[in-house]
Amino acid sequence: MKFTDSPVIELPVRNAVLSLQQDNGSMHVGTSVWPCSLVLVKFADRWAPPLPNTSTGTESTPNPYSDLFDFRSKRAVELGTGCGVSGMGLYLLGLTNLVLTDIAPVMPALKRNLKINKTVLGKTLKYSVLYWNKLDQIKTLNPPFDFVIATDVVYIEETVGPLVSAMEALLSDNGVVLLGYQLRSPEADKLFWELCVKVFDIEKVPHEDLHPDYAYEETNIYLLRRKKKQ
Ligand SMILES: C[S@@+](CC[C@H](N)C(=O)[O-])C[C@H]1O[C@@H](n2cnc3c(N)ncnc32)[C@H](O)[C@@H]1O
Repeated sequence: MKFTDSPVIELPVRNAVLSLQQDNGSMHVGTSVWPCSLVLVKFADRWAPPLPNTSTGTESTPNPYSDLFDFRSKRAVELGTGCGVSGMGLYLLGLTNLVLTDIAPVMPALKRNLKINKTVLGKTLKYSVLYWNKLDQIKTLNPPFDFVIATDVVYIEETVGPLVSAMEALLSDNGVVLLGYQLRSPEADKLFWELCVKVFDIEKVPHEDLHPDYAYEETNIYLLRRKKKQ
């Protein structure tokens, strides 16, 4: 499934189906659902260990991501959540202590999607306004977090510096940035990776590990971890 004009997108996650409402006509990109978010959720859906009391009988299959996706007792924050797809999907996979963030104009689209999916999620997830360059807003979230989630957030060169700084400020020493990435702007791309390589060790998830129904050639998942101090 590629990015679509359909006003509603259905995303199966484990035994549930998220219903995602998007408005492609708005001037804010966050009111649309972007493919990286679907790819990240379905990658995690493929590998996240089953939740307690939901044995599938396949637990003995070797799982290279069982430690990564052991969400027990972990805290997470999502940057540029848009319609909230990644956060809601990972919540369904057990990442229950999380807060979704975006700029103020995107909040109505996020709130609408949280409301539509409240029954599936069992509650309204936490959300907060966060502009990447606002240190006070970052502090209010009470970092550090075990996971920083970010999908399709690298597309404007001017915001790349604040984005990487926000990731750094939010991530715990042993934390992981779950990044869904697609090249949107060559300038933003170049700067983003130049900055990232200074602070993070970068692991690219092999395409064959993505969910086969949600693996697009142009979309990648990266795992960013803080470089260890020498
Ligand atoms: C292309 S959308 C991706 C939305 C969502 N993550 C997805 O994958 O469907 C980029 C998101 O980043 C947010 N964003 C862009 N610049 C931002 C900034 N400076 N501070 C906070 N959020 C920002 C936008 O509002 C938007 O929701």
